[in-house]
Amino acid sequence: MKHSDQNTRFLAKTFYGFESILAKELKSLGAKNIKELNRMVAFEGDLGFMYKANFSLGCALRILMPIGTFRVTNQEQLYDAIKSIPWQQYFSAEKTFAIDSGLFSDRFSNSLFLSQKAKDAIVDYFREKTRKRPSVDTSDPQIRINLHLSNDTLSVALDSSGASLHQRGYKTVTNIAPINEVLAAGILHLSDWHGQCNFFDPMCGSGTLAIEAALMACKIPHGIHRTSYSFMHWDSFDAELWEKIKESALNKVKEFPFTIYAQDKAPSAVRKTEENVENAGLSEYIQVQRADFFKTLPPTASPLHMVFNPPYGERLDIDDIPFYKEIGNTLKQHYSNSEAWLISSNLEALKHLGLKPFKKVKLYNGKLEAKLQGYRLYSGSLKETH
Ligand SMILES: C[S@@+](CC[C@H](N)C(=O)[O-])C[C@H]1O[C@@H](n2cnc3c(N)ncnc32)[C@H](O)[C@@H]1O
Repeated sequence: MKHSDQNTRFLAKTFYGFESILAKELKSLGAKNIKELNRMVAFEGDLGFMYKANFSLGCALRILMPIGTFRVTNQEQLYDAIKSIPWQQYFSAEKTFAIDSGLFSDRFSNSLFLSQKAKDAIVDYFREKTRKRPSVDTSDPQIRINLHLSNDTLSVALDSSGASLHQRGYKTVTNIAPINEVLAAGILHLSDWHGQCNFFDPMCGSGTLAIEAALMACKIPHGIHRTSYSFMHWDSFDAELWEKIKESALNKVKEFPFTIYAQDKAPSAVRKTEENVENAGLSEYIQVQRADFFKTLPPTASPLHMVFNPPYGERLDIDDIPFYKEIGNTLKQHYSNSEAWLISSNLEALKHLGLKPFKKVKLYNGKLEAKLQGYRLYSGSLKETH
C-alpha cells in the first residue's frame, strides 16, 4: 500500500472514561467522522493525519487501522480468513511481527491460541507468495497486528503505534507507583488544564503529571521524544511526509507564561523528577523542589491549578485516613483561590478530605478503580466542609 491522501478509518484506543476527551483532542487535530466507542474512538483521516495523531495525542494508547472483518466459528476459518488478507500490501517478509489478540468468545480456548493460528497463516501467506518468511518478535516487533474476536466476529487491524503511546521517551527513571503518562494526560484534560495559570503537583513522585501538564500548556506534541512508531515499518511509510507533519506540529508550540511547580518530600523522587524533566527538555517551565506538603506553604501566592495522586496504602505504606484528612486540612488552610484535583484508588480515604468535590469522575489506575475529584478552594471553602 503506497502513500494515499484518501481518508481511512482508524481506531484510537484509550482508558475507561477518556473517550470524550480523546474525541475532543482528535477534533482539534482535524479528524473527521469521530465516534466515541467503548475505551476507543473511531475517526477518519489520511495517512499524514495518522502520523499526526500518533505524534500529538496525549490521551491515546495506540492507533489501529482496521484491515478486515470476518465471520469465524472454528480454527480453519480463522486460518483462512487471516491468510486471505493481502499482507504484502502492508509490509514485507523482511519485517519482524507480533500479534496481540483480544478474545471475547467461547469459540477458542485462549487468546494465545488465536495469535498462534494467525501467525501460522501470515507466515504461510508470505512463504507461498515470496518464498520468504517474516520472523516473530514478541518483545520489540516492527509490525504489530491486532486481532479482536467477539462472538463470531473477527476484526483484524494493523497497529500503527507499536509500543503503547504512553511510552513517550522522556521517563528514564520512575519512583514507586508512577502514574501512566496517558492516564496523567487524560486526568489533566478532565481537570480542564490548558495552561491558564500556575500549576502545582505537591506529591510529584517521578514527575509525570508536571511533565504532561507542561507539554499541554506549551502545546508540545506528547510524542516529541519518542523515536519509533510501527507505521515507519509499513510499506506505505512516507519519510518526507512524516518530517513535514512533525515540523508543522512543532510550529504550533507556544510559550507558557506561568510556572509549573513539582514537589515531593522524598529526595529520591525529587532527583527522579529532575532527571525526567531534563529528558523532556522542560526545565525552563518546571520548578522541582523537595518539601513536605503538610509542613510548607504554597510555592506562590497566586492561584494554582493543583493535580496530584497522593499515596494510598495498597501501593505505598501509609495510614490512609489520617493522611487524607491532613491533605484536606492543608488545602483548606493554605490554598484558598486554588483548584485541587486528586486521583486516588482509596475511595474511602477520599471521603475523609472534609471538602466537597464539585466534580467526580470514575477511572481506573491500572486494574484498580479510582476516582478523580475536583475541589474549588474559595476563601470561604471552610464553610463547605461537612
Ligand atoms: C503515588 S506517588 C505519586 C506518583 C506520581 N504521580 C508519578 O507519576 O510518579 C505519591 C508521592 O507522594 C509523596 N508524598 C507522600 N507524602 C508526602 C508529603 N507529605 N509531602 C510531599 N510528598 C509526599 C511520596 O513520596 C510519593 O512520591
